[in-house]
Amino acid sequence: MASPGSSAPGGVAVVGSGLIGRSWAMLFASAGFRVKLFDIEPRQVTDALVSLRKEMKMLELSGYLKGELGAEEQLSLISGCSDLREAVEGALHVQECVPENLELKRKLFAQLDKIADDHVILSSSSSCLLPSKLFAGLAHVKQCLVAHPVNPPYYVPLVELVPHPETAPATVDRTYALMRRVGQSPVRLLREIDGFALNRLQYAVIAEAWRLVEMASPSSRWPPAWHLGIVVQPLISGAEVKMAACFSSSLSCEQRVPPKVAARWGNSSGLKGSPFSGHRESGAPGPDLLRGGMLSYCDRYGEGMKRVLKTFGPVPEFSGATAEKVHQAMCVKVPDDAEHLAARRAWRDGCLMRLAQLKHQLPQ
Ligand code: NAI
Repeated sequence: MASPGSSAPGGVAVVGSGLIGRSWAMLFASAGFRVKLFDIEPRQVTDALVSLRKEMKMLELSGYLKGELGAEEQLSLISGCSDLREAVEGALHVQECVPENLELKRKLFAQLDKIADDHVILSSSSSCLLPSKLFAGLAHVKQCLVAHPVNPPYYVPLVELVPHPETAPATVDRTYALMRRVGQSPVRLLREIDGFALNRLQYAVIAEAWRLVEMASPSSRWPPAWHLGIVVQPLISGAEVKMAACFSSSLSCEQRVPPKVAARWGNSSGLKGSPFSGHRESGAPGPDLLRGGMLSYCDRYGEGMKRVLKTFGPVPEFSGATAEKVHQAMCVKVPDDAEHLAARRAWRDGCLMRLAQLKHQLPQ
């Protein structure tokens, strides 16, 4: 069996050929892996193959195709498969990409458990289902983990690797190596935690931005247009655009973010909105982390951070009048019909790709 570290890549099975499955397929093929795409809906596989051809040809034309192989060569590595057992046979890695539903995923992993050999890695793309729930009772639990990508994985390299308590360290190591090999920036979580790391951060920012919107004065002289940041301006004055940046990068990536501001949100491993320094490096507000290092930063701000965190309010409902208000504000910028959203996604993907290229050229 080929290993991710060997010079002759082996095969990868992608189970579920929707948004994330397609992106994974492109990534694996870009590094020369054979990819078998399986889906419970055969039509999804057919559509995926058509859309992958279109996208990879377009990327090649614009010079953004990843990897050393041409689009035709990469495409020849990807094939559709109508049988799960056939898709998994001989694979060194299975990347599960079915909808975020615990029962559905558990059923699928039970099926995979029956057909897996003792070497293949069984990896879930789950955004926030705990490995202890996903893989409970599986005979091959040592070979299981979550490899949570960030949408769109082809452009945003961060992948969280989250083990089950019984996952073998070699499983995490091999997946880490595989992710590096396909150009991703994996991070290892030492143990599972609800929301993993990325979404715990994002949810905290989203929840707080949400509360700020709710607290903003209804008699604000600022119209709820251009940006959510405008809505919160009366409440937090100079900080409003930073909140807007967080909201944009976390909630949808559909809003335009002033680049100077977005550069503070995200980190070098590619958090959404991503650019060049994250909270770890910039600190906010005031003096930055690079001034005296982490211990000094904690010394200076630890108590304040604790105090602020203790003031976090209850979990918002994410519905009702506030949901409508946020929705309306976002629609001013990007109407939520399929055509506008698709155009905005294309614009975003182009920006992320150019940003990745720029980062590559800069000294690290
Ligand atoms: P999707 O809905 O676009 O695609 C899911 C695909 O799975 C569909 O083609 C469906 O036909 C297929 N499917 C359903 N049941 C199946 C089964 N039993 N066997 C094989 N295929 C089956 O979903 P999406 O957005 O690609 O999400 C997939 C996973 O990736 C989810 O766990 C999600 O939480 C995770 N994820 C999603 C991100 C996103 O922004 N969409 C980001 C990071 C992770």
